[in-house]
Amino acid sequence: MSTKNPRVAVVGATGAVGREMLKVLEQRVFPASEVVPFASARSAGMKVPYAGDELSVVELKEDSFEGFDIALFSAGGGTSKKFAPLAAKQGCVVVDNSSAWRMDPNIPLVVPEVNPHDLDWHNGIIANPNCSTIQMVVALKPIHDEARIKRIIVSTYQAVSGSGQKAINELETQVSRLFNGKNVVPDVYPHQIAFNCLPHIDDFLDNGYTKEEMKMVNETTKIMGDDNIKVTATTVRVPVFFGHSEALNIETEEKMSPEECRTLLAESPGVTIIDYPEKKAYPMAIDCAGEDDVFVGRIREDMTIPNGLNMWVVSDNIRKGAALNTVQIAETLIERELVRVD
Ligand code: A2P
Repeated sequence: MSTKNPRVAVVGATGAVGREMLKVLEQRVFPASEVVPFASARSAGMKVPYAGDELSVVELKEDSFEGFDIALFSAGGGTSKKFAPLAAKQGCVVVDNSSAWRMDPNIPLVVPEVNPHDLDWHNGIIANPNCSTIQMVVALKPIHDEARIKRIIVSTYQAVSGSGQKAINELETQVSRLFNGKNVVPDVYPHQIAFNCLPHIDDFLDNGYTKEEMKMVNETTKIMGDDNIKVTATTVRVPVFFGHSEALNIETEEKMSPEECRTLLAESPGVTIIDYPEKKAYPMAIDCAGEDDVFVGRIREDMTIPNGLNMWVVSDNIRKGAALNTVQIAETLIERELVRVD
């Protein structure tokens, strides 16, 4: 297959992730012959910035993918379910940000630093994992390769941008109204998010977990390619605009000291260590927003078990957790000559 200058469709280009995708394509000088932003009929004709210019948003329709080679989707599960198969049928490779296809055994779920080889068996659709899962597996895969992870306990502190542009607006509005002595009426979230923490992301399931928590459980083993890893998660929405934080506790088969872990992660792709407690230096959402890497700190021994580590992992959920990972998948598809170009 030829791999030069694909035509790229960005679906959901007016949303928080879609806009970031355009930014990431521009920043990484993605070798596109053309980039076209798509959204719903509501946004047709709206302008979005790209490469120092403005692009006009096009309404997404069933025949929209004619002549496109790659489509980057971030327009919700319903749109993906309907339009991704149509795009694939038209010869366009889809990289999809929604949860619609992630656990389909015929669809690869990919983080390029972890399992790029899974792209080799794609059938036209590739799923981009859940944002919290992506940053966790980037930090944990090198440790798993060295010391075999048996169990992961994760608690997340997730930014509102993970719920889209409306949620960013909701936090902004609530903070402003509360400072002005006004009442707030929750809309995107079931409760006030300003100055609050909600232990509730996505719908509750019969087992008492939320869908977000079970995404972390199921997606981690699929991406890591190891069903033996046990994962349990508590996912919490916090009043932060950008950047998800995670407290991880892991148990390994082989012993790994905090020093060995720091050295290993410092040379792992996509990871930056910030771990200087004596200088009060550790990863924080406000510093990691806008950055590409997964930041790891507070690495220390879990003193309650023989082979355990605790750590704190932060990354920009809109970049590595969504837009950047999607574009990296597209870049890897090109590198591995897995995209048709007319
Ligand atoms: P629109 O702005 O026209 O509604 P976010 O996650 O920030 O809420 O963004 C969701 C993105 O998905 C937006 O760009 C939105 O476009 C787009 N979208 C939602 N529904 C559809 C649809 N049926 N067809 C195309 N794009 C859609």
